[in-house]
Amino acid sequence: MKTVIAIDGPAASGKSSVARELSVRLDIAYVNSGTFYRALTWWVLHEGADPNSVKEVSDVIAATELRSGFNGPIAFLLLNGTEATPHLRDNEVNRNVSAVSRVSLVREHLMTHLHRLASEKNVVMEGRDIGSVVFPDTPYKFYIDASPEVRVQRRQAQGQHDEIATRDRIDSSRPNAPLIIAEDALVIDSTHLTIDGVVGEVIGRLKLRGLSLPLQ
Ligand code: DC
Repeated sequence: MKTVIAIDGPAASGKSSVARELSVRLDIAYVNSGTFYRALTWWVLHEGADPNSVKEVSDVIAATELRSGFNGPIAFLLLNGTEATPHLRDNEVNRNVSAVSRVSLVREHLMTHLHRLASEKNVVMEGRDIGSVVFPDTPYKFYIDASPEVRVQRRQAQGQHDEIATRDRIDSSRPNAPLIIAEDALVIDSTHLTIDGVVGEVIGRLKLRGLSLPLQ
């Protein structure tokens, strides 16, 4: 059984910076599941389907070959062999990703890929439901939060238009795999912390939980 370090939290909570830094410091692979949901959203739009129609989204997904793997330590997802990376932060993707993420078939397909990736390598995996649904048995679960004001400022500083309050509302209220704090997750409020500060807390907890570092 490989090691999975689950990092969940709302939009712009700082979880990506923390997860990336952890993957470098611990020398393990990095899976940003949000980029997979974003890639599928871009693909649905690219195929001309309505992101709010469960049927249209499901039809597109069923007709698409999804391929995932690792490029060095970073996980990728290809859609019919196409790379979505340049489009992941498009405004249209920001606006529609929560709707597409509600669709059961989307979640089922991505879950299979996330499980397979974690069977290949030790990973730090970030998302919304990694500790609660995708890997409920991992002992290494973190929920990174920050105040709504700071999260909005962080997105603005990145020059992005992203209605994070709307996304959080949809992500938290959907029936399947909503954003919740897993019972046994360590909650870290990053509002007044640096990335290094959060990473330090995570590593401290990993050691307390008996994870021997560096991982093999
Ligand atoms: O982490 P992010 O903001 O890039 O994620 C984009 C969207 O993807 C998020 O609003 C909801 C969805 N998502 C999800 O439903 N489950 C995950 N594990 C990761 C992301």
